[in-house]
Amino acid sequence: HFQPVARVPGDPILGLMDAFRADPSPAKLDLGVGVYKDAQGRTPIMAAVKHAEQRLLASETTKSYTSGHGDAAFGEQLLQLVLGQDSPLLAGQRAGTTQTPGGTGALRLTADFLSHCLPGRGIWLSDPTWPIHETIFAEAGLKVGHYPYVGADNRLDVEAMLAALERVPSGDVVLLHACCHNPTGFDLSHDDWRQVLDVVRRRELLPLIDFAYQGFGDGLGDDAWAVRLFAAELPELLITSSCSKNFGLYRERTGALIVCADSHDKLLDVRSQLASLARNLWSTPPAHGAAVVATILGDAALRAEWQAELDLMRGRVLRLRQGLVEALQPFGLAERFAHIAVQRGMFSYTGLTPEQVRRLRDESSVYMVGSGRANVAGLDEQRLGELAAAIARVC
Ligand code: LMR
Repeated sequence: HFQPVARVPGDPILGLMDAFRADPSPAKLDLGVGVYKDAQGRTPIMAAVKHAEQRLLASETTKSYTSGHGDAAFGEQLLQLVLGQDSPLLAGQRAGTTQTPGGTGALRLTADFLSHCLPGRGIWLSDPTWPIHETIFAEAGLKVGHYPYVGADNRLDVEAMLAALERVPSGDVVLLHACCHNPTGFDLSHDDWRQVLDVVRRRELLPLIDFAYQGFGDGLGDDAWAVRLFAAELPELLITSSCSKNFGLYRERTGALIVCADSHDKLLDVRSQLASLARNLWSTPPAHGAAVVATILGDAALRAEWQAELDLMRGRVLRLRQGLVEALQPFGLAERFAHIAVQRGMFSYTGLTPEQVRRLRDESSVYMVGSGRANVAGLDEQRLGELAAAIARVC
């Protein structure tokens, strides 16, 4: 039976975690997979999460299945977090949450929804984008196209992006990163977003906004600015939301697909399809992470505790960005890498070539993705000079 099964290479991002663990060097530095790290290099469980878990341990009464759309309290809280408490979509019952195993699960469900319910639509991704965007839609049978985003000069090219979107066939789906673009770290300005909205509206494209890093860019509300603009201005919108990073719930696989429809009735049609598709994927979603999020967001004290910790995490990443550019100054490289302080979120497209990335790993035990993407949250404030020297050696 298994004779024809060939071996495929491991995932390039997750594989870095294994390579890093296996490296005996005491000086090793993990700038690979997108997880937050504190000053000690740990990915801690957030205090509010621990507190919510303690409450849940005492109060949970059943492990029976949740519904196809998951935890209803989680769904309501997340809608408010993403769309804003005062969103008219909430009052008009035009938006709904389907809980998924992480943001990746939400993308997988979206891919199935598009291929089953809107057959023939292509999907357009930024070049570059998160590698799983490429495969998840292609494997669901969608035609995948690309619009330029960051060019070979490692600069955001909004003009080229807009020009390409003008040529996308009407009705096709455009995937946009709400904030903290993965892998580049380059985000659109408000003005850029308004221009993208204009093309999307004129060409009747369906936006799918991937919102994996709410709270890691400029703050919970600021990061949702474009999502809320699109939700207010367009009749229909898909949003994939993740609680992996902002609640630090990575392995609990907590996320959602949020659908905004032009009427409550149409929302129910779409949601009926999502529950049916999800049944074939994972049946019902895992409960624990969603219960934690609902507990935190539903309690003023826990929410404040969570938000304060998230603010600290965001502040640390911003300081590290600035600090690395300063550390590169003595090597005459501050200007060349000035974009690191401008980019937002965990990731930076450093502009280092695959060869330079390989040398950094082999010579200095610094791990980053071959594309030159570095997880800034993995930096060590005390060792920025050391890293700057290692970068200077390969430049
Ligand atoms: C990343 O890009 O590193 C994260 O989104 C984690 C992942 O699943 O790849």
